[in-house]
Amino acid sequence: MSTQVTVKDGRLAVEGLVKTFKSSKGEAEDVVRAVDDVSLSVEPGRLLTLLGPSGCGKTTTLRCVAGLEHPNQGEIAVGERVLFSSSKGVRLPANQRGLGMVFQSYAIWPHMNVRKNVSFPLRARRGKDRLSRKEITERADRALAVVQLDHLATRPATDLSGGQQQRLALARALVMQPPLLLLDEPLSNLDAKLREDMRFELKRLQRDLGVTTVYVTHDQVEALAMSDVIAVMSNGKVEQMGRPTDIYNNPRSRFVADFVGTTNLIAGEVESREGDRYVVTTPQGRLAARSPGDLATGAQVIVSVRPEHIQVAEGEASTSAPGVWNGTIANRAFLGDAVDHLVSVGDFTVRTRCNPSIRFSRDSAVHLTFPSEHCSLLPA
Ligand SMILES: Nc1ncnc2c1ncn2[C@@H]1O[C@H](COP(=O)(O)OP(=O)(O)O)[C@@H](O)[C@H]1O
Ligand SMILES: [Mg+2]
Repeated sequence: MSTQVTVKDGRLAVEGLVKTFKSSKGEAEDVVRAVDDVSLSVEPGRLLTLLGPSGCGKTTTLRCVAGLEHPNQGEIAVGERVLFSSSKGVRLPANQRGLGMVFQSYAIWPHMNVRKNVSFPLRARRGKDRLSRKEITERADRALAVVQLDHLATRPATDLSGGQQQRLALARALVMQPPLLLLDEPLSNLDAKLREDMRFELKRLQRDLGVTTVYVTHDQVEALAMSDVIAVMSNGKVEQMGRPTDIYNNPRSRFVADFVGTTNLIAGEVESREGDRYVVTTPQGRLAARSPGDLATGAQVIVSVRPEHIQVAEGEASTSAPGVWNGTIANRAFLGDAVDHLVSVGDFTVRTRCNPSIRFSRDSAVHLTFPSEHCSLLPA
């Protein structure tokens, strides 16, 4: 695939970013800390996703990097270039940052054809940055080739499908050869099937071009599929940052375990400990779990275990070892590529997920095995 649109190396570094808004509600001077001391970095050519629920500060963080919001505090740099620094008093205006941006409402210009939409930012250049008409057309067509729209260059932009308009918005962001690409929920206006296709498409493009990218989404599946690194955000803060497998397999807080993927959260108390191996007492029975943290005997904890990591077998257990519980099948949900069983253990319901060929009927007696390496201990 063509990688003719060159992008400059850009490492994004954000340090101690704070952005507050005055809340308009009522008389009292309420201040919302939309971004509350966020630090993160993205290595050149990598894709970082800001993942979190609505209102956690993803868009505001991105807009601060873009120069569309004025942060209260912090430092933002791309490569050697400082874009914003409260300590040095630097604040580059958005149009001098030279970043590529695609937002959820990827406003294309309806009165222009496809090529004109892409070349518009180039035609707007003045002074020493001014390009000849030939250069403009060449660069626009290269950007269109990258997103595979070159054959539609003269078509009115409004005649494109949703997915094509999305690619057009991307071409328009890439035509400036930005050192950094900022994408805010760019797929959320597309229907499910197209969204899934575009996910792969966008990831492939990003990797081929080697453009450093910050991607914003509230969709954990999208984040897990696309990212080199995920920063999970909550209440204006980064809760955990790591590779997708890290975030999924070793969540460090209840919030991350719950927000990313499906999990069982089981409350209990540390009974004993040997190194990183713990035994936890819960009202349903005991569990063996692991934690790199330092938790004392008697500490209140939450054990997080993913449904697909719990084994279900017929009949009662022949052991009373920690991590083996007896239960009853309460419900069963066929998901196509998997089947979920809800298993009652006393008053508690455990969700398990297995191959759809496995089926237990309602009310049958089963025992569950919780492998200790998949039981993450979290502070309560
Ligand atoms: N222009 C604004 N004025 C006042 N409050 C704002 C403004 N923009 C965002 N906020 C508030 O900041 C918080 C974070 O918003 P936002 O960054 O848009 O979250 P997200 O993109 O994660 O959904 C929210 O509480 C939101 O209401
Ligand atoms: Mg947002």
